[in-house]
Amino acid sequence: MKKKIYIAGCGGMLGEAFYAQFKDDYIIKCTDKDVNDAWLSFLDFRDLDAYRKDVKDFRPDYLFHLGAYTDLEFCEQNEDETYRTNTMSVENAVYIANELDIPLLYICTAGIFDGNKELYDDWDTPNPLGVYARSKYMGERYVCENAKRFLICRAGWMMGAGPKKDKKFIQKIMNQLKEGKKELFIVNDKDGTPTYTHDFAKNVRYLIENEYWGLYNMVCGGQTSRLEVTEELLKILGLDDKIKINIVTSDYFRETYFAARPACERLLNRKLNIRHANLMRDWKIALKEYIDNYYQGYLE
Ligand SMILES: NC(=O)c1ccc[n+]([C@@H]2O[C@H](COP(=O)([O-])OP(=O)(O)OC[C@H]3O[C@@H](n4cnc5c(N)ncnc54)[C@H](OP(=O)(O)O)[C@@H]3O)[C@@H](O)[C@H]2O)c1
Repeated sequence: MKKKIYIAGCGGMLGEAFYAQFKDDYIIKCTDKDVNDAWLSFLDFRDLDAYRKDVKDFRPDYLFHLGAYTDLEFCEQNEDETYRTNTMSVENAVYIANELDIPLLYICTAGIFDGNKELYDDWDTPNPLGVYARSKYMGERYVCENAKRFLICRAGWMMGAGPKKDKKFIQKIMNQLKEGKKELFIVNDKDGTPTYTHDFAKNVRYLIENEYWGLYNMVCGGQTSRLEVTEELLKILGLDDKIKINIVTSDYFRETYFAARPACERLLNRKLNIRHANLMRDWKIALKEYIDNYYQGYLE
């Protein structure tokens, strides 16, 4: 018999890939406060009573808590709302999963580190710099300390879902290219690891099905920078000779992106490697597949 998964906050970039990964072999209920697809229904997970009722009525085998506020500048300016959404709603999810005695999945971020190291493995000590990162780290800690059975996967620079839902770096660059910009301003002081949503969802499924509970770094292979990602993107698009990259420091964007960001948020999937459970492909391969699958004709 098919197992059941309740997926909360499933209307965003990552939710799109989770829907695709799990819809055929599981019975899933996908909710969000932004009901932007026919397969979503409304649930605001800040409302504990409503969250508890909706999950319990569905009687799932797993609870996936995906959603969060992911705009770092919004989070800096709306602290209480951020902790309510990104931290205390995770506490709600832990209560519900424990009451039903089911495993909980929570998504954390590479952004919880302070950037003073070159590379972070699963056991490095987080030291969040801003409100978003702190809110996510406090969610992670609550799950670790209180959930009976859990999986926490830390993602890096997310890419996925295409123009409709991608709110992050790739879409921001694609927007500029679509607007006809002939030059881009790209920082050379931010290092990280891209994370393709479909690889991530597949790897989560592998861990769940093998019951490898616990905390895992889960990013694509290779370590890179905003600058190198942009260069690779232009190459894939065949625009490397046509678009000029102006290299700047983060100071150039200090008014737009005023939230603190670590200089380095590169993760190493050490635990996945040791378990022989690392299904994450190299970021360049994943980026090419992402562009091929989601941006055909986008710039025409
Ligand atoms: N994006 C990244 O680069 C990144 C990197 C590492 C980890 N993560 C983590 O990955 C997870 C998924 O993020 P994503 O990239 O898919 O972000 P996303 O595209 O912003 O999607 C998050 C979804 O959660 C929803 N949501 C927010 N508050 C909610 C609430 N109270 N009740 C129900 N739904 C709510 C959002 O709705 P609204 O649009 O209405 O707010 C949005 O549809 C998050 O936990 C995030 O922290 C993201």
